Amino acid sequence: MSSPHPSPKSLFSSGTCSSTETAEPSRSTVVTRLRAAGCVFAEDEAALLIAAAPTPDDLAALVERRTAGHPLEHVLGWAEFGGLRVAVDPGVFVPRRRTEFLLGQAVALGRRPPGRTGRTGRHIVAVDLCCGSGAVGAALAAALGGVELHACDIEPAAVRCARRNVAAAGGLVYEGDLFAPLPVHLQGRIDVLTANVPYVPTEEVGLLPPEAREHEPLVALDGGADGLDVLRRVTAAAPRWLAPGGHLLVETGERQAPRAVETFRRSGLVPRVATSDELYATVVIGTRPTDPARPTGTTDPTGTKTA
Ligand SMILES: C[S@@+](CC[C@H](N)C(=O)[O-])C[C@H]1O[C@@H](n2cnc3c(N)ncnc32)[C@H](O)[C@@H]1O
Repeated sequence: MSSPHPSPKSLFSSGTCSSTETAEPSRSTVVTRLRAAGCVFAEDEAALLIAAAPTPDDLAALVERRTAGHPLEHVLGWAEFGGLRVAVDPGVFVPRRRTEFLLGQAVALGRRPPGRTGRTGRHIVAVDLCCGSGAVGAALAAALGGVELHACDIEPAAVRCARRNVAAAGGLVYEGDLFAPLPVHLQGRIDVLTANVPYVPTEEVGLLPPEAREHEPLVALDGGADGLDVLRRVTAAAPRWLAPGGHLLVETGERQAPRAVETFRRSGLVPRVATSDELYATVVIGTRPTDPARPTGTTDPTGTKTA
């Protein structure tokens, strides 16, 4: 988006937007500006920005930020995710539609806990590692109800944002490196561990759209040489934190999935891959065996054949 940036007021030099008469011209002005800046869904975005702006000056400021290339979600201050309106502050990773597939898998597993002793009839323990805005954890808790929710991120801005988003579920958010800040009492107790780790290979970060490259922190995107650095660290430590029969869910690229599966297997988790063509999403799911001797290639408690 390479349009000039007029001062907020100059956008609406034909008059105020406060009367019904002037509302329509404002909308078309906004649409035109957004379209000129390269916004594909200019009509939809205009409607959202207009609804978000209490005054014409506010609207002009929002349009200016959007046409300057800020992600729509940062401009609005929220994103829709898993049926929730999730707060997304500037500098915090914007939850992607694709990740709703990981969420759906996590919800399904949270609803069908393996029937081991002491597991049914109690709230599940969920941890959202690399939580960003906390969207996955918040939506998981909203879908399942009564979840003991913990989340963690290394970025202070993400932690602040996630705290607001998981508050309704009574969730706790910790700041730090992966599992390090989690309370020790969670070890061996996590039923559902979601970790939408950064997984873009370092060399490909420069190919991302400017909205991501320029407005989301590098630590949220860069997954190291093959994109799997953080995934490997999560997978290595996960068995210690998962309950027997508990699940780790990680989003990857399609081409990364076979290597991720191997990593899961080596750490002692029983892996499988779930994909969605519609959302172009790949999720690797690893289950901590209830019986460590159970071989791979058998059927897991949810009826899915393991890799
Ligand atoms: C791809 S974003 C996903 C955010 C969120 N889960 C979502 O789906 O919207 C990855 C997140 O991992 C966090 N992160 C990266 N490395 C981390 C680490 N070593 N420990 C904790 N969080 C980390 C980033 O700050 C970022 O918020």
